[in-house]
Amino acid sequence: MNILSPSILAADFKNLGQQIADVDEAGAPYLHVDVMDGTFVPSISFGMPVIKSIRSASDMVFDVHLMIVDPIRYIEEFAESGADIITFHIEAADDPQAVIDKIHSLGKKAGISIKPGTAVDVLEPYLDKVDMILVMTVEPGFGGQPFIEATYDKIKAVRKMLNDRGLDTDVQVDGGITKDNIKKVIAAGANVIVAGSSVFRGDAKENAKELIKLMEA
Ligand code: DX5
Ligand code: ZN
Repeated sequence: MNILSPSILAADFKNLGQQIADVDEAGAPYLHVDVMDGTFVPSISFGMPVIKSIRSASDMVFDVHLMIVDPIRYIEEFAESGADIITFHIEAADDPQAVIDKIHSLGKKAGISIKPGTAVDVLEPYLDKVDMILVMTVEPGFGGQPFIEATYDKIKAVRKMLNDRGLDTDVQVDGGITKDNIKKVIAAGANVIVAGSSVFRGDAKENAKELIKLMEA
């Protein structure tokens, strides 16, 4: 199934509740929540209190993308705050399997992510251990960046690694997704599509509807 996950990093924070309602009403099943620590990535976004606060406003699946060093330190707090899926970066974890186990022990889905410069091979030991693989299609840290064309091959490679093992694990893409390339990333093998600027710049509800329509076509 193809799933749109609008990223609130690009939302208008003074109207965050309304912005979430808009994408919910448009039919987006997931809400992508980017957590940045200023160390793993240069920027700082938001954390547990924001997630806790918006949790009461929506039944959407909270797809929390941790761009933080040593993520195991905070898994419990993000789970308690209302995350449904917790994705961490393989580059940021000393023991990725321990992070996956921690997420699962709290009854949440686990995602593992690679940056554009990380080889897909590092995912190999975790392919059958995670619920989702996030292939970053921009350098993590900021919204509104252009899609890196070279990542099509990585999406294809990850989908092939999964297919070869008989796994139908979700493959997520994040960064620079627009109405012009959404069909291409799906054709390459992605099925969970994060979109920040292309949803929240302008009319969020209409934009989300348009992207969902393209994903179904
Ligand atoms: C970037 C974040 C993305 C970001 C995507 O580090 O992980 O989720 O919000 O924004 P767009 O869709 O504008 O590239
Ligand atoms: Zn993200």
